[in-house]
Amino acid sequence: MSKFVIEGGTKLKGKVNIGGFKNAAVAIIPATILCQDKCIIQNVPLIDDVNVLGEILTEIGADVEFLDDTSISIDTSNINECYLKNGLSKKIRASYYLLGAGLGRFKNASTLLPGGCDIGDRPIDQHIKGFEALGATVDISDDGRISVKADKLIGNKIYLDVVSVGATINIMMAAVLAEGKTTIENAAKEPHIVDTANFLNSMGADIKGAGTDVIRINGVEKLRGCTYRVIPDQIEAGTYMIAAAATKGDIIIDDVIPKHLEPITAKLKEMGMGIEEYGDSIRVFYENELTPVNIQTLPYPGFPTDLQQPMTVLLSSLHGESMVVEGVSEDRFKYVNEIKKMGANIEYSKKHAKISGTKNLKGAIVRATDLRAGAALIIAGLVAEGITEIIDIYHIDRGYEFIENKFMNLGAKIRRVKED
Ligand code: EPZ
Repeated sequence: MSKFVIEGGTKLKGKVNIGGFKNAAVAIIPATILCQDKCIIQNVPLIDDVNVLGEILTEIGADVEFLDDTSISIDTSNINECYLKNGLSKKIRASYYLLGAGLGRFKNASTLLPGGCDIGDRPIDQHIKGFEALGATVDISDDGRISVKADKLIGNKIYLDVVSVGATINIMMAAVLAEGKTTIENAAKEPHIVDTANFLNSMGADIKGAGTDVIRINGVEKLRGCTYRVIPDQIEAGTYMIAAAATKGDIIIDDVIPKHLEPITAKLKEMGMGIEEYGDSIRVFYENELTPVNIQTLPYPGFPTDLQQPMTVLLSSLHGESMVVEGVSEDRFKYVNEIKKMGANIEYSKKHAKISGTKNLKGAIVRATDLRAGAALIIAGLVAEGITEIIDIYHIDRGYEFIENKFMNLGAKIRRVKED
């Protein structure tokens, strides 16, 4: 096991490059199952979730090859079923995409129920609702195996009771080869849904409306392989934006889509940060004392739930009161106990955190409880007085590529130490 050791007090300065979007890549990689051909996916982040998905696809018979730093070749010609025997699917949330992709291609798929960050119950009832609406039967066994199958898939009108990223993408994948038209109403609108729809359309699917709350899919006969580049990771970019604010720094973030960053940009500007946009780069710089703001996380284009934890750390390091309301995940404040060890003054419940900011967080030994909480603790360590040690950093490696190197290149005093 390893840990991060951070010495606080450095203002971040310089440039950082953003990788491909984790939550787009972990949908697009399983979606290659829908064609019986070879795909080249470019700008894939080098993170553990992608490695796990590469192992999963290899296990079911795909030929997976990492071509260079950020491209992956996936040949799914020899896959003839989508049955995941081992426990790999429990390691990540995105393994549930094998159900939609396997159902779409083989009319049959079976995996163990997904794992992922501990941020609430995270049911998949809306995924199941969509699969059943298309004509599939869904069985969940006592030992946590979920199996979906259909004689044939017929397009249908599906209204999501909850705005769900995963369900929207999974139903899209199951519907692209179904007979007839499918409409997904109350669909999630995140950029990675648009990216996945664009990838499927590059394979020959017929999807319109991704990015709005109504997605229309006309089933087609067959999909073919393609080459596709994943969009930049707006959550990774937002993490560095918030870190620049917390450390009173001045950084330039390259390879971003500023439009995708608008919810974060708006909030940081409201707090008093300087923001300048140049095409596919953005400069985030400290000008004068920041004022606390209130945050409510919402589905896109609201403030993203995946940046709630880093933002709560930033607010904890300022003078004044603020309120953070978690409008998406069911139970995403567990990590607050770790920041309180560093002197943060926060009262919280499952859906709310009331922050009485304090100027001096102090270094401590803390534990990453999930991916984004881990990133938030790095930010806390960067602003705290003294030394912070973060353990269980495998959570962070699931979704951030080279995170300590990128922070070191911005001047942070952070190093990865192997735990004996
Ligand atoms: C995706 O999770 C992301 N993960 C999460 O990112 C992100 O926090 C979340 O979307 C919201 O943006 C991946 O893309 C792999 P949801 P997902 O379905 O699909 C409820 C990260 O840090 N719900 O949009 O699981 C659910 O409980 C991770 O990168 C149902 O009730 O999110 C939650 O409260 C963490 N029934 C809300 O909807 C369902 O069938 C949103 O969940 C599905 C979801």
